[in-house]
Amino acid sequence: MTPLRKFVAPEFVFGCGSRRLAGQYAANFGGWRVLLVSDAGVVAAGWAAEVRASLEAAGLQVEEFTAVSPNPRTDEVMAGIEVYRRHGCDVIVAVGGGSPMDCAKGISILSTNGGNIRAFEGVDKVERPGAPLICIPTTAGTSADVSQFAIITEPRQRRKLAIISKAVVPDVSLIDPETTTTMDPQLTVFTGLDALVHAVEAFVSLAHSPFLDLHSLEAVRLVRAHLPTARQYPDDLDAREQIMRAALHAGIAFSNASLGAVHAMSHSLGGAFDLPHGESNALLLEHVTAFNYSAAPERYDRIGEALGLDLRGMAAKAKADALFTAIRDFKAALGIAEGLRHRGIAHSDIGELSRNALGDACIVTNPRRAGQRDVEVIFEEAL
Ligand SMILES: [Fe+2]
Repeated sequence: MTPLRKFVAPEFVFGCGSRRLAGQYAANFGGWRVLLVSDAGVVAAGWAAEVRASLEAAGLQVEEFTAVSPNPRTDEVMAGIEVYRRHGCDVIVAVGGGSPMDCAKGISILSTNGGNIRAFEGVDKVERPGAPLICIPTTAGTSADVSQFAIITEPRQRRKLAIISKAVVPDVSLIDPETTTTMDPQLTVFTGLDALVHAVEAFVSLAHSPFLDLHSLEAVRLVRAHLPTARQYPDDLDAREQIMRAALHAGIAFSNASLGAVHAMSHSLGGAFDLPHGESNALLLEHVTAFNYSAAPERYDRIGEALGLDLRGMAAKAKADALFTAIRDFKAALGIAEGLRHRGIAHSDIGELSRNALGDACIVTNPRRAGQRDVEVIFEEAL
């Protein structure tokens, strides 16, 4: 019998032009002063100004907070809540990739719960719902716009805090593929591969379920079919829409089924070395797959089929090898062929990286139980 499973997703509007509904939705919350959270790149691309205009056209006051790093930090969340309080804001609108959205989630938590953002690390540690939060993603992959996750870096400890709570699911997300046309090819690849990893890890997670499986497999198929085109032709709106749709499917899946060792190890890497999240995931995926395969062979085979492999008649070892090679070749075709060593990680870093990975909430649902030495070996193979 299928175990009990719950499912949480925000209200969302999917399609080109949905960003222009920001003012209407913010006004529906009864707010009058919006904190607009974004970052320098998204401001330069013009998306923050467009959303601001939509909010002002709806009669709302707007305060901006854009001091958000690519891996948002605890002190940035604390600075953001100061701006929110100083101006008496009552609604939060995040425009950007995972970083501004995760920072906005942190600010939303603190707006009603108070305290320091570090206190909310872990699963279900947020007691009160936060201020109304509208997310407008401008990358296609992190899925912070639909997920129950917020990942915040603690610079003093060189690690990331995973906050997992229904309270950080946005109230509304306006998912507009047009905003992803300003991503450069590298960011397109990193975020698209993050979506692929979300789909794979959700599908093999110990908390997987049939309802979520559909979303995971569709995301894998869409990323495989359309990410190369989105990378090569940034203005191809059809490819952009398909990848945005992939990210949405993958986000719905992982938000509810959680993740696994790739994300646990990637959070550890990102906290210590400030690597782009999608890149650190991509550098680990086939190595974690090789470690996990024996614990969930049928499920990994279905991932392989969604990636276009014909595995009929193969022995288990051959299937595992074919999947490893397919992931490696797909990454290579997207320009990712080197290992962690080329990003400044040394053998001497692996002990601490592995300890932090084992402390991450995502490791709990990895299909194969991993100990310190297991994680160290995976890091060594990914060097
Ligand atoms: Fe991710």
